[in-house]
Amino acid sequence: MEWGMVNRLAQLIQPDGHALFLPIDHGYFQGPTRKLEEPGKTIAPLLPYADALFVTRGVLRSSVPPDNSKPVILRVSGGTSVVGGDLANEGITTSMEEAIRLNASAVGTSVFVGSDYEKESLLNLAKLVDDGERYGIPVMAVTAVGKELEKREARYLALACRIAAELGARVVKTYWCEDFERVTGGCPVPVVMAGGPQVDTELEVFEFIHDGIQKGSIGVNLGRNIWQSDFPVAMIKAIRAIVHQNATPKEAQKIYDSEKGSKAKK
Ligand code: 5RP
Repeated sequence: MEWGMVNRLAQLIQPDGHALFLPIDHGYFQGPTRKLEEPGKTIAPLLPYADALFVTRGVLRSSVPPDNSKPVILRVSGGTSVVGGDLANEGITTSMEEAIRLNASAVGTSVFVGSDYEKESLLNLAKLVDDGERYGIPVMAVTAVGKELEKREARYLALACRIAAELGARVVKTYWCEDFERVTGGCPVPVVMAGGPQVDTELEVFEFIHDGIQKGSIGVNLGRNIWQSDFPVAMIKAIRAIVHQNATPKEAQKIYDSEKGSKAKK
């Protein structure tokens, strides 16, 4: 691997082999998502605890200070919306030249395996990998399910992750599911987990992250279950402890409760 590619991957994946990416890209198809209405305000308190930020160029320019020292994974696919015809019908929205100009450490694009636009999204990924490899920019593939949340099960996710890796993604983002080892076991590149819509309790989040890491994931690319929490900093600190300090779900819950308590007293 070329020095630039190795260097960028090392910025994203920490020396312990694990990673906590903070995605705040949801507005690119959902508009002003709850608690992400003013992205700068969402990002600022969380950034110290993230290893990288997953963001579109519009939010990067408008809401992230350029002296920010955290690596950026640039969301470069889009062109659809929740009120449009089909979320899967994405194109590449941002050139590799622009990614380099913005000093991105990686770029990310969605693939919609099994959708009417499977081929287009997979060829978007393949072309992006060709462009990225030319300049030493890693590509993160996002195995997107659109509105079909029921697709988040091992057989489908293993298929989607493996295809993304075969097409050259350096990292694959997917969802946690039961039998998650089937997903990581069939994917020859690092896998990070998203959270999906906010779940009922913090402990559920801690448990699935812990389980996924035990089963081979390197960490998370987790958004709503952090920044839609009433105590987002407590949440990211607890998750960081699972990802980087091998904390158990119960230990993470203690961190969350204690951080939440000290915040509530202020
Ligand atoms: C949305 C994305 C997100 O980056 C990904 O889904 C992670 O966020 P969340 O944990 O909120 O699901 O790809 O387009």
